[in-house]
This record gives sequence, C-alpha cells and structure tokens, in this order.
Amino acid sequence: MRVPLIAGNWKMNTTVSEAVELVKEMLPELDRIDNVDKVICPPFVSLAAIKELLKGSTIKLGAQNLYFEEKGAYTGEISPLMLAELCEFVIIGHSERRQYFNETIEIVDKKVQAALKVGLTPILCIGETLEENEAGKTEEILTRQLSSPSARLYYLGGSILAYEPIWAIGTGRAASGGQANDTIGFIRQHIAQQHGQGIAQEVRILYGGSVTANNIAEFINQPEIDGALVGGASLKASEFLSIVRQTSEIKGRLSEES
Ligand code: 13P
Repeated sequence: MRVPLIAGNWKMNTTVSEAVELVKEMLPELDRIDNVDKVICPPFVSLAAIKELLKGSTIKLGAQNLYFEEKGAYTGEISPLMLAELCEFVIIGHSERRQYFNETIEIVDKKVQAALKVGLTPILCIGETLEENEAGKTEEILTRQLSSPSARLYYLGGSILAYEPIWAIGTGRAASGGQANDTIGFIRQHIAQQHGQGIAQEVRILYGGSVTANNIAEFINQPEIDGALVGGASLKASEFLSIVRQTSEIKGRLSEES
C-alpha cells in the first residue's frame, strides 16, 4: 500500500514573515493528521525559518526548484547541496518552469539526477497543454517526459511523480477524478512496461491542477491517485488542512476495505 502524500506548492507567494505565520496557523492540527505524508514547499528564502518551526513535527519541507550543479559561478542559483541541509523534497520540472524559464526535458533530467545524488526526493511534474490534450497527444507527451535513460534510477531513488495537466493549473478547471485516474493509470502502466510491475506499483503518483477542499475527495477516491500537489489552495490554512484531513480519512477507509 502506497502512503498518500499531499504537497503544497506555494509558488512565488508569501514573504518570510507571511510564510512563518501561515505555518504557525496550520502546524498544530496538520502535525496530528496521520496516514498521509504532508509536505510544504515555500519559496527558498523561507526554508531556513520554516525548518526551525517544523522541528520535531511530522510535516516535511520541500523546495520548488534547484540548479543541477553543486557549486560554482552560477549567480542567483540554488544548488542541491544547499537544499539538502534544509529540506527533504524538491519539486522539479513544474510546467511553469518549463514554460517561463525554458526548462527542457534534458535540463529537468539533470535536475532530478542532481537531487537524487544528494538524497533529496524529487517531485517530478509532468503534464500536457490544452492543445496537446485536444489533439489526443497526452500519452505521447507524458511518455516523452518520462523517457530519460536514467528514469529507472528516479524510481529506485524514491522519486514522486505529479501529473499536472497544464490546462488545469490555476484555472479552476480541474480534471475529473476519472480522467486523472485514467491518465495516472496510463503512467503507471508505462512504468511497468519499462521498469517492471514492482517499481510501477511502488511509485507514488499525485494529481495537481485546481485541487481544492471541495474536489479533493473526487481524486483521492481513485485507486491510481496517491495524493495531490496543491497550488492556490495550499496558501489557506483551513483549506489545506481540510485537503490533508480528507485524504487521510478516505485513503484510510479504502485501505481497510481492500
Ligand atoms: P493550482 O492548485 O493553483 O491549480 O496549482 C497547481 C500546481 O501547479 C501545483 O504545483
């Protein structure tokens, strides 16, 4: 049984003091919810302060990006080694980075490998645009995004995948539970063909794109979906708590039934 995971991607929101306030608001209750891995991914500048706040809690910390070199003359970049001191997870290949910062499949691959090398757990984002979706190219795009020759190492290293259809991100237009389940089922099947059933059954695959407290149950009730990568709704304490609470309850019930 895969442990469900809910990650909050705060994107470029919150100053350090706002981030600290938000964590303080959700910490006591979030800490108590079990049967689900809880990860928050604030901006880089808040990681150190939040790490202190989370000490001794069950909540884990992640970054939203990294550079693939360990150190050197790369003004403005943040290296895997720097992050390894601060957090356990790192989001890689988010569509906003692919779209606005020209991250190619090759760059994303280097980043995943660099993260694994220092013991960070990548949350690797994949997903198709609306145009690709409407042209029936979703499976082709996802297959390409997972085609690295070192993909096997991703899974052996415990990487998490997040299927985020780009048309559903920040649009309020989430995929349906069934749609997301089918696509994540396809991803798992593809991994099984490439790397074997054992690896495919172990890898956690999240859904992301306009997840809220109102629609999380629809996703979490699906057998292929292991959790969610939440954007906007992770910036409101009550909303994020509700998402995590529902995930714990529903997956707990499903595992008792199976
Ligand atoms: P929203 O939940 O705001 O649609 O963002 C999803 C996302 O991009 C998470 O990484």
